[in-house]
Amino acid sequence: MPSLLNDIEPLKHSALADMKSAPDLAALERAKGSWIGTHGKFTALMKQLGSLPKEDRPAAGKLINETKTQLEAALIARREELELKASLPKEPTDFTLPGRRRALGKLHPLTQVTDDIVRSFRKIGFVVADGPEVEDEYHCFDALNTPADHPARDTQDTFYLAEPEIPLTRPPDTLSPSGREGRGEGAPFMERPNSRSGSPESSQPSTGNQQQLLRTHTSSVQIRVMEKQQPPVRIIVPGRVYRRDNADATHNPTFQQIEGLYVDKGVTVGDLKGTVEFVFKDLLGGDVKIRFRPHYFSYTEPSFEIDFSSSLTRKMGKAWLEIAGCGMVHPQVFENVGYDPEVWTGWAFGFGIERIAMIRYGITDIRLFYENDLRFLKQF
Ligand code: DAH
Repeated sequence: MPSLLNDIEPLKHSALADMKSAPDLAALERAKGSWIGTHGKFTALMKQLGSLPKEDRPAAGKLINETKTQLEAALIARREELELKASLPKEPTDFTLPGRRRALGKLHPLTQVTDDIVRSFRKIGFVVADGPEVEDEYHCFDALNTPADHPARDTQDTFYLAEPEIPLTRPPDTLSPSGREGRGEGAPFMERPNSRSGSPESSQPSTGNQQQLLRTHTSSVQIRVMEKQQPPVRIIVPGRVYRRDNADATHNPTFQQIEGLYVDKGVTVGDLKGTVEFVFKDLLGGDVKIRFRPHYFSYTEPSFEIDFSSSLTRKMGKAWLEIAGCGMVHPQVFENVGYDPEVWTGWAFGFGIERIAMIRYGITDIRLFYENDLRFLKQF
């Protein structure tokens, strides 16, 4: 047998060994080049075929072709092996370990409580209304029959803005569903000048010379809604309010309220009490008791404070907890929005959402809601 043919077998063995032992894809490509590439050793061998005697060529050609096929197959097999190896994790994997889950976000406890309150009121036909947090004195106080010398209007109690940022007599239909317009970003707070623009005679629609402030209660939205629509009205208004309070366990300069307003013909205190009772039972359990105590608010007559009692208040060591203010809408308020007080009657209430959340969850410090400590928030 010519030496060429003798060379094939050992060459093949070396080539196969070389390919099989290639530690990675780059090494395999190099092996390919050095054996079956254009300048490879095996390619060189094939080129010598022509130098063989004619009768030896068919056998040699066949052998060379078979060998080449084997080498190519070995190349492909090793490449697949190496590719699979490259795609596997470097570290050994214990597939029996529990998976790592992505933590799901949650709604803030105050948002959860607000949603639940809204759900309860929706069951009995109330819709959600919204208004600006940067408010004018007219909607926050004057239109609500709140006299110029009322302490709530004092600079000690209310954040006033340095300059008007929104038109003071905006048509109510510019209210946004988010309630976040007119935040007056960037407007510094200022001490309110001594001259009070909220004199009794200014209980008329604002003329535009009123101070702007961060609303102290959601009651201002009562006015905005009644200015915009005719009775019947059945709304609730969840939203943020601001007061110049120092933060302590029961106060925060920002907190949330829900306002309610119901206007129709022949509305009574009985409707008010029934509604409040329904909602609180729905929200906090069937053992809830409600008590009305006479009180004073300038926009309602008669006015009450609502106390609440249940196993939850007793857990907090209290038989009764005050949770809301309410009353029958004052005729002057109806006059201010152009409703005829001889025709229409109504009630309104306002309560603090934090208070409800604190009772519901047994929380004793309001500041926890605003510290954004995940160890607290994760519990809800
Ligand atoms: N605005 C009152 C407050 O912030 C709560 C309130 C009392 C709202 C009586 C009302 C009401 O609508 O009729 O303390």
